[in-house]
Amino acid sequence: MRKWLNEKDPRKLEELFGEARACAIRHVGPKVYFRGIIEFSNLCAKDCYYCGIRKSNANVIRFAMEEGEILECAMAAQEMDYGSIVLQSGERQDEIYVRFIEDILHKIKAATAEKLGITLSLGEQTAETYERWFRAGAHRYLLRIETSSPVLYKRLHPENHFFEVRRECLRTLRRIGYQVGTGVMIGLPFQTHEHLVDDILFFRDEDVDMIGMGPYVPHEDTPLVSAGHDPAENFRLGLVMIALTRLVLKDVNIAATTALQALDPSGREKGVQAGANIIMPNITPTDYRKFYQLYNHKPCLDENARQCRSCLERRIQVAGAEIGYGEWGDSKHFSGRQKNSI
Ligand code: 5AD
Ligand code: FES
Repeated sequence: MRKWLNEKDPRKLEELFGEARACAIRHVGPKVYFRGIIEFSNLCAKDCYYCGIRKSNANVIRFAMEEGEILECAMAAQEMDYGSIVLQSGERQDEIYVRFIEDILHKIKAATAEKLGITLSLGEQTAETYERWFRAGAHRYLLRIETSSPVLYKRLHPENHFFEVRRECLRTLRRIGYQVGTGVMIGLPFQTHEHLVDDILFFRDEDVDMIGMGPYVPHEDTPLVSAGHDPAENFRLGLVMIALTRLVLKDVNIAATTALQALDPSGREKGVQAGANIIMPNITPTDYRKFYQLYNHKPCLDENARQCRSCLERRIQVAGAEIGYGEWGDSKHFSGRQKNSI
């Protein structure tokens, strides 16, 4: 893996990506599945040094979509034939918020005849909260570890953010029965290739079902922006990480994330060609998108959900893959893990 992370020869890299795409076809099939993502609020209690919506960033206008608006997005996702949605927001743990999510889960399930799959990406919570949301109808959870190195984690977060808590949350989610997704940022300041190899081993050892990782892209209003950064190199590393993760983990779902497209106009289709099988089209109402910028150069800020749908449809066709419309496209790794435990 270290050798590949160092590989700069485009022909050799094409070979690696081709192998990874073939591995994806063999283990998870030829289709790419869409998850419509609703970024419904940027209120956040955390202060991660890399993130544009960290609580100390006073330049952000804060918003929280109302229940009715979120419900409308969910129904629109079903109309557009997306098999599932992702609800993402800044992190909050207060009871009003926990209850709000619980209610919205019930309502989405009822409004879509229980057909729409629901993934949550709402940060660190107590086991009780995760259980409540699971009972209310969520079945997948994304929580990036950000980096598998506790030392690097410390450098990227304030004192009161803990690697161990994050890892424990992943284990709790798994115990409750969620399909669990994690991931890292690639090309972070102070990050070495050794760290990236360890990240892949972390995914393997924690036995996760889904991976969402992407290049680190600096945000101008964050403390980390001054640390120096090579966008082309982070993009290359982003693709190599997808390919290596596919070849090592084989049957997990891997997302071609939006951050890839922040660094390269064809970023997401290249992600698919390097072994990813999930795309998360943005279905947040256009008016809110500009307030949810975790990093600079985020694409699709002026587009709406339908435009993103046709845009991504074209991109996936160009990449030579087929879209699994209307299907949940569950992680094959998760089904395997369920069978083994019966
Ligand atoms: N660059 C790339 N990804 C980022 N995230 C947050 N800030 C950045 C950034 N500057 C990612 C984190 C988080 C996810 C929701 O967005 O990995 O878990
Ligand atoms: Fe949103 Fe292309 S995916 S415009």
